[in-house]
Amino acid sequence: MRQARHAGESDNAHMNTDYLNADAMTQAASSTKPSDEMAYTPPTGQPVLETIHLRKYFPLRQFKITGPRSVVHAVEDANLALYPGRALALVGESGSGKSTIARMLARLYEPTSGSINFAGQPVRLGSGAGLHAYRRQVQMIFQDPFSSLNPIHSVRYHLSRPLRLYGHVHSRREETQQILALLDRVSLSPAEQFIQKYPHQLSGGQRQRIAIAQALAVRPKVVLADEPVSMLDVSIRLDVLNLLLRLKEEEQLALLFITHDIASARYFAEDTMVMYAGQTMEGGPSDEVILAPKHPYTQLLISAAPDPDRIESENAGMPELSARGEIPSLINPPSGCRFHPRCPHAMPICRERFPGRTALGGGHWTHCFLYGEGNTSDSAHDAVATASAHTSPSSPPAPTILPNQ
Ligand SMILES: Nc1ncnc2c1ncn2[C@@H]1O[C@H](COP(=O)(O)OP(=O)(O)OP(=O)(O)O)[C@@H](O)[C@H]1O
Ligand code: SF4
Ligand SMILES: [Mg+2]
Repeated sequence: MRQARHAGESDNAHMNTDYLNADAMTQAASSTKPSDEMAYTPPTGQPVLETIHLRKYFPLRQFKITGPRSVVHAVEDANLALYPGRALALVGESGSGKSTIARMLARLYEPTSGSINFAGQPVRLGSGAGLHAYRRQVQMIFQDPFSSLNPIHSVRYHLSRPLRLYGHVHSRREETQQILALLDRVSLSPAEQFIQKYPHQLSGGQRQRIAIAQALAVRPKVVLADEPVSMLDVSIRLDVLNLLLRLKEEEQLALLFITHDIASARYFAEDTMVMYAGQTMEGGPSDEVILAPKHPYTQLLISAAPDPDRIESENAGMPELSARGEIPSLINPPSGCRFHPRCPHAMPICRERFPGRTALGGGHWTHCFLYGEGNTSDSAHDAVATASAHTSPSSPPAPTILPNQ
């Protein structure tokens, strides 16, 4: 999909450079959205990596002797699937649980409950060989390219380690060839010059390309990219993201793309999932979720990141995100739908329990009583009308209530 974006990896001539000087992939992404997009194709076949009812609570260290131990309820009942050659964007404000999900998938955190399936099989790791074999398939790219590189070691050292650790090279000559090939794949050329450099001799974007090459050296099937460009200069973010996208398609990688920026999610990922305060709120095809958001939280997120592709009148009337309070504490989170203290449509039932998942058609889904269970009162119908008027010119499809996940 979206072939045109790949041409921009080292050629941004088609972009309006004013956008690159402004904050935000939001505007850059919108400015370059190709007009000749191909139609959305839903994922088919078996996901390479999948989470089922994944939950993570962090018990806090405390000095008190009596009483219950405080716990951060970071992720509740998360269900997501990653497919070869596709990107899923995980979007939400700070503290919504995005990195915690990625770290559970990378097996840096143990889930409190729920399961992770790799190629249809439950992941049972323990430690040692099982973990090593898992990491051969699932690699993570972090936000800060400085922290992933050791300043006292050269590029050669950083790339030779994974090649040796995973048995991909058997001689120094083979190692050099593969390192040069990796540098070419991440567009660091001439590769012969980069191989001897040290992290301090590289720009932020070049360091992040080395981090991407490190992940690729393992030959993974899944890459978890946790805000991979947010610490880079805005002028090079698109290049690095386009590199990731090219690799995703060339190598049929399953890509989890974590971002604060919902508009860039639309540009870079086939599918988008929105999280708030540890709960999943809405998901589906990126164009559907971002151009016709149904969940009030997604609508608020989008109102804070206007997209020039949307009709101006669609942005009008959406409440400002900042005007509606802060993300709650996850030590003592709001009951039911955690968005209810900020939601303009909250109903009594929203405080009582978290709504089940409602399918909206075409792979689009949401967890919101406005579109499904509990939606019986007149006021709820009014709320649906208001919500849909703010988002899509068409009426929301008749909701189908699925069992609670
Ligand atoms: N190791 C930890 N111990 C205790 N609490 C944690 C730990 N890691 C994360 N949390 C808490 O879990 C919640 C979710 O954090 P997480 O880092 O996953 O959010 P995020 O969506 O990635 O946010 P950001 O956009 O700021 O990176 C937050 O309340 C955070 O403080
Ligand atoms: S209407 Fe209720 S369930 Fe839907 S987002 Fe608002 S508070 Fe949550
Ligand atoms: Mg994070």
